[in-house]
Amino acid sequence: MTANPVRAVSMGIARERVDGREKVTGRAVYAVENDAEAAVEAAAGAGRPLHGWLVTSTSARGRVLRVDASEALDHPGVVAVLDHTNAPRLADAEDRELAVLQDDRIGFRGQIVAMVLAETPESAREGARLVRVHEQAEPFSATLEGAETYRPDPSSVGSATDTEQGDVEAALAAAPVSIEHTYTTPHEHNNAMEPHAATALWRDGTLTMWDSTQGVHSVASTLAPMLGLEKDRLRVLAPYVGGGFGSKGLPHGPEVAVALAARWAEGRAVKLAVTRQQMFPLTGYRTQTVSAIRIGAEPDGRILALEHAVTVQTSVIKEFVEHAAVPARMMYAGPHRRTSHRVASLDVPVPSWMRAPGEMPGMYALEVALDDLAVATGVDPVQLRVRNEPEVDPDSGNPFSNRRLVDCLHRGAERFGWADRPAEPRATLDGDWWVGTGVASATYPANFFPGNAARIAALGGGRYRVSIGAVDIGTGARTVLQQIAADALGVGVEEGIDLEIGDTRLPFATVAGGSSGTGSWGTAITQAAQQFRADHGEDPDPGVHTTSTAESYPDTEHLAMHSFGAVFAEARVHRWTGEVRVPRMLGVYSVGRVINPTTARSQFLGGLVMGLSAALFEESVRDARFGHVVTQDLATYHVASHADIGDLQVEWLDDVDERATPMGSRGIGEIGIVGTSAAVVNAAYHATGIRVRDLPATADAFL
Ligand code: MOS
Repeated sequence: MTANPVRAVSMGIARERVDGREKVTGRAVYAVENDAEAAVEAAAGAGRPLHGWLVTSTSARGRVLRVDASEALDHPGVVAVLDHTNAPRLADAEDRELAVLQDDRIGFRGQIVAMVLAETPESAREGARLVRVHEQAEPFSATLEGAETYRPDPSSVGSATDTEQGDVEAALAAAPVSIEHTYTTPHEHNNAMEPHAATALWRDGTLTMWDSTQGVHSVASTLAPMLGLEKDRLRVLAPYVGGGFGSKGLPHGPEVAVALAARWAEGRAVKLAVTRQQMFPLTGYRTQTVSAIRIGAEPDGRILALEHAVTVQTSVIKEFVEHAAVPARMMYAGPHRRTSHRVASLDVPVPSWMRAPGEMPGMYALEVALDDLAVATGVDPVQLRVRNEPEVDPDSGNPFSNRRLVDCLHRGAERFGWADRPAEPRATLDGDWWVGTGVASATYPANFFPGNAARIAALGGGRYRVSIGAVDIGTGARTVLQQIAADALGVGVEEGIDLEIGDTRLPFATVAGGSSGTGSWGTAITQAAQQFRADHGEDPDPGVHTTSTAESYPDTEHLAMHSFGAVFAEARVHRWTGEVRVPRMLGVYSVGRVINPTTARSQFLGGLVMGLSAALFEESVRDARFGHVVTQDLATYHVASHADIGDLQVEWLDDVDERATPMGSRGIGEIGIVGTSAAVVNAAYHATGIRVRDLPATADAFL
């Protein structure tokens, strides 16, 4: 079923963030901040909030024998120390990541084993230092190297674990040209500017949480049954969120800890901000990925056979699979194809979403492999991709709703000056710098999450209140949803729309994740507006309202819906030190209609920066002897800084995809990181003739 399209008047207009001024002047209230504190105090009437501090395990596997809180409790500021013996019980402790302080088992190093509650953050921190945790350590495994792997459940992959078409082995054996290499991406951590944090107040049988999350309703749906509450007894608010990058897409242990503490402290609010160091084990990460790729091709580059076999790790306490082999299923033509995922279960923290989970490492591997194939066949890398453009989705056989990869490649090549590129690598030396250029394709599925609802209420005088429990994690959703609502109701943005988001008291909304938010929430708003106009006409009385759940979904049964892009990079590699600089990058995208060019551009730029950062710097180091991440701060976990970023350009094709959403848009939050690391590595190869297949591409690789 296709949704009714709407007329774009406000959509397409570049608007600055409506909350930009509040944010840069410090008036925007985050989960554990100022005004929230006053609000909590006023609501509670029971003293100032308590401050929590987490105490974490030092063993990677074992048991908590005893938590000695006596010294901590002697501290004048400390009110309580909760551990597995005295913390409130959960009604459901099935999920071992979320069932914190429920039993003595330790499943990874850095797991929550106690929580100190104190009058100030300082005394909470000091109290945590005074807690003595006696642990019985057991043998454990914390490294993917040599670990036994298994075939995971398709539900963890998000689609089939393995796929196979044709006869890959026979086609590879017969192929005139073939390549076979292993490509790896490291263990990586997403570190939002605002750490995971929450203020929680349990009063009159209701828990209220101001949470830094990508989905207020998903936190409530997950935690309410665990806490033995009806969902409407758990109110979650997230008016402002300082970034998430996937790490706040699913609730994690600290949110349960603060909820339990609030239960214990009933009537008095509890605040918890996870420290930067504690984010590394407690709030998810991208696992290391190993991609074994084999491609057989004709001499002109046309792919005959393609295999992408992925090995990743997960955690013994909860299965999560980085679905890196999925994009190879739909990206290029070729009759014989095989993809697979295998997983090792380790005694380590629980992996989770990090911007473009699956697509980012998977497309890194595939797009460097395409560059290897370009070298093996002597075909230009842009031409090679064009030559392997499929007629229909090779995986499902369905037509694409709007596949314009070739247009992105051609437009990018023209703007980047690709025609002037020397065919051979190591052809340009500028002073002490080898100079080269590279390209990679990008793709991301047009995810649409069902069940979203919106409420439209007339305020009189042509003004409407539009309410939906969505979250703006810094992407500009608040700004963009107003534009969508304005067009859906046929009014101006400023004078016509009063938007409410970020609260479970508002109609159900799915997570700000999978680049699905604007499309899914916007569809609900558009359909609610259409229903409202059908119910109440053009000039409604103030007070009348309609709440409506989105009923039309894109036809993913019969159409393949993905966004596409082409990323071009120039790399300069120092001939004596191996230092890599990236003076310019260009991304050209086809993403359906761009609703707000200002906020969209920022999403693409942020994606390019994050992809560059992954290409050259990012790597978490886990010490397999102890099971912890050594690089647990932003001094040792390097991310790109301003000085690392050169000239970044992004543009998008003039598109409207009304089969994806009634707005004609697809998601844009994640595609910018996809392919970018490959473009950088491919450019460094072109500069030096040295092929890096393992990220990050640090200086030593080029010496
Ligand atoms: Mo995004 S990693 O799906 O929040």
